[in-house]
Amino acid sequence: MLNEMMNRHIVSDTVLSYLRSHLQETDNIALQKLRKEAQLKKLPIIPLETASFFRLLMKIQQPQYVLEVGTAIGYSALLMAIENPKIKKLVTFERNPVMYHQAAFNINNFQLSNKIEIKFGDIANQYSKIKLMQFDLIFLDGAKSKYLNQFNHLINNVKPNGIILIDDIFQGGDTFRSITQIRHRNKGIHRHLNQLLSEVLDSQKYTSTLLPLGDGLLMIMKN
Ligand SMILES: C[S@@+](CC[C@H](N)C(=O)[O-])C[C@H]1O[C@@H](n2cnc3c(N)ncnc32)[C@H](O)[C@@H]1O
Repeated sequence: MLNEMMNRHIVSDTVLSYLRSHLQETDNIALQKLRKEAQLKKLPIIPLETASFFRLLMKIQQPQYVLEVGTAIGYSALLMAIENPKIKKLVTFERNPVMYHQAAFNINNFQLSNKIEIKFGDIANQYSKIKLMQFDLIFLDGAKSKYLNQFNHLINNVKPNGIILIDDIFQGGDTFRSITQIRHRNKGIHRHLNQLLSEVLDSQKYTSTLLPLGDGLLMIMKN
């Protein structure tokens, strides 16, 4: 995902154009400005329709403890913290040093460093650090090939009735195609995403749904 306009999306252009001209993700002018800057610079952030869903979810669920994998410039973390004043701590991991520094700058600028804790590094090397932490909401938005592994590790960190959101699950529809139709370099992602979907959708342990927002959002509640 490069930026919102370059995102793969799953709905028709007509539907997408309606969503992007009618939905609102925040009333916060500075955050709207950050979204526009990210679009201009082609930086990866969740698309507007996903952001608008996040806003509503923040109002409904009001999570106090949130974990995010994939901070980029901090847009989605800031959105969750701004739209949900009940957040006590949002921990977000970023492995790219340029993104990490940009996010740290933005979080500081929004005066949200007391609520948003950005950690540098690949989540794969940090599971022990968060072993004892329990979250109301976990958002996976890093490398798609690692979702299955991350899900299996982090499911233990979700409170009962807590939620996991996993972004870009449709891969422009590739996820649902036969593996023989998938380019060699994407076969690993295809296999992992399909395994994740069957583990989640077929299990009594979770109540889940697939939302056609952006490139697809998998929403899972731990029963
Ligand atoms: C799509 S962007 C995140 C966008 C951000 N959630 C938002 O909407 O504002 C993905 C980011 O995840 C980071 N990333 C990918 N895999 C990661 C991992 N395993 N651990 C930590 N960060 C990761 C990438 O460096 C990239 O900046």
